[in-house]
Amino acid sequence: MKLSTIALKWQRSKINTYVKGSRNFDGFLRLDIGEPWFPLSERLQQTIKSWSVADFKKRPDIHCARLKKAAANFWKVSVDNIAVANGSDQFIWLLPRIFMNPRDIAVVMNPTFFLFAESVIRAGGRVLSFATPSENKFEVSDQLITDVINSVRKNNAKIIWLCNPNNPTGTVISLNNIKRIVVETNALVIVDEAFFDISTIPPHESAISLLNTNSNVVVLKTLSKTFGLSNVRVGFALSNKALISTLNDWRLPFEVSHIAQEIATEILDDKTHWKKMKTFVLREKNWLIKQIKTIKHIELASPSTTTILLLRHNNKNLHNLLIKENILTANFNHCNGIENQRFVRITIQKRSENEKLVDALKKL
Ligand SMILES: Cc1ncc(COP(=O)(O)O)c(C=O)c1O
Repeated sequence: MKLSTIALKWQRSKINTYVKGSRNFDGFLRLDIGEPWFPLSERLQQTIKSWSVADFKKRPDIHCARLKKAAANFWKVSVDNIAVANGSDQFIWLLPRIFMNPRDIAVVMNPTFFLFAESVIRAGGRVLSFATPSENKFEVSDQLITDVINSVRKNNAKIIWLCNPNNPTGTVISLNNIKRIVVETNALVIVDEAFFDISTIPPHESAISLLNTNSNVVVLKTLSKTFGLSNVRVGFALSNKALISTLNDWRLPFEVSHIAQEIATEILDDKTHWKKMKTFVLREKNWLIKQIKTIKHIELASPSTTTILLLRHNNKNLHNLLIKENILTANFNHCNGIENQRFVRITIQKRSENEKLVDALKKL
C-alpha cells in the first residue's frame, strides 16, 4: 500500500526531539520525565481502593459532564468553554488538522515542546520558527513578539503556538505580549499552559482572561504536569463556545475512560491538595536552584518559573556523565533551536532524589 503525500512529507522532515534512551533504564533516577513528584491525597487513595469491577466495566460518559463541571470550577470558566481529551497531546495533534490546510504555515518559538511542530507537519502544514536565544536566557522579548506578529501577517500564518511557561526553559510570555499577538493577528493562538498551574506565574496572567473577548484563543491544560499524573491521560482545551463545539465534533467519543474521569474530577475538586503540591514543588525548586548555583561547572540556562530546569556542564556532556551515576536526564542536544549545546532538562522530584542529583553534579 502506498503512503499518502502527507505521510511521505512527514517521513522526510522528522522533527528533532530530545533523545529518549534506547537502552533499559530500570533502577535509574528518572529526572527525564516532565512530571514532578507528589503523593496522591488520602481521599483519592480511598476512592481508588473502593473501586469494584463495575467501575472498570462502565462505559465512559462521552460528554465528561462531571469532570467538565469540576474543571469549570477550577479554572473559573463555563462548562461550554471546555473540551476534554486523552491528554492535551490529543488537542495538540488535532488543532492543526482542523484549522490548517496543506502547506499553511504555523509559527513556533524554539526551543519548545517538539509536538507543536510535529503535529503541524503531520497535518501537511509548514513550520516557521523563531528563536529565543540561549545568550539571553531564552527570554521572550517585546521585539521578538513584534517580529512574530509581522511575520504572521506577512505569511498569513494560521496557528501560533505559545507555551507558557515554556517547556524546556520554564520561561514566561507576559499576558500583555500574548494579547498583542491575539489582537494584532487573525491566526489561532494556542497557549499551552501545561505547567502554568504549578508555576510562580500569578493566576491573573493566564490567557484564560482573553477567552471572553477574543475568538482566536485556545488554552491547553493537563493533569500530567500540574498534578504529576500523566498516566491518567486527561487534558483540557479552553476556548469560546463555537471552537469548543468544533473540537467536540472532531475528537473521538470515548477517548477519556470512566476511571480517568473519576480521578480527574476528584483531583480538580480538591484545591487544598493541589495548593499543598504547588507549595512543596516550588519550595523544592528554590532549594535545588540554590544548590546548583553553588556548583561552578554547572550552568542554569534560564530563570525557570516551574518544575523543570534546563542545565549544562560548562564543557562536558552532562547527559552522558549522569548516566554513569544512574541518573537519567532529558537530553536536549538535538532539540530544535538548541542543537549541539549540550543542554539537559530535569524535573523536580522529592528531596532525597534532588539531593542525589546535587551530589552527582558536585562530583563531576
Ligand atoms: C508543554 C507540554 N504540553 C503538553 C504536553 C502533553 O501532556 P499530556 O500528558 O496531557 O498529553 C506536554 C508533555 O510533555 C508538554 O510538555
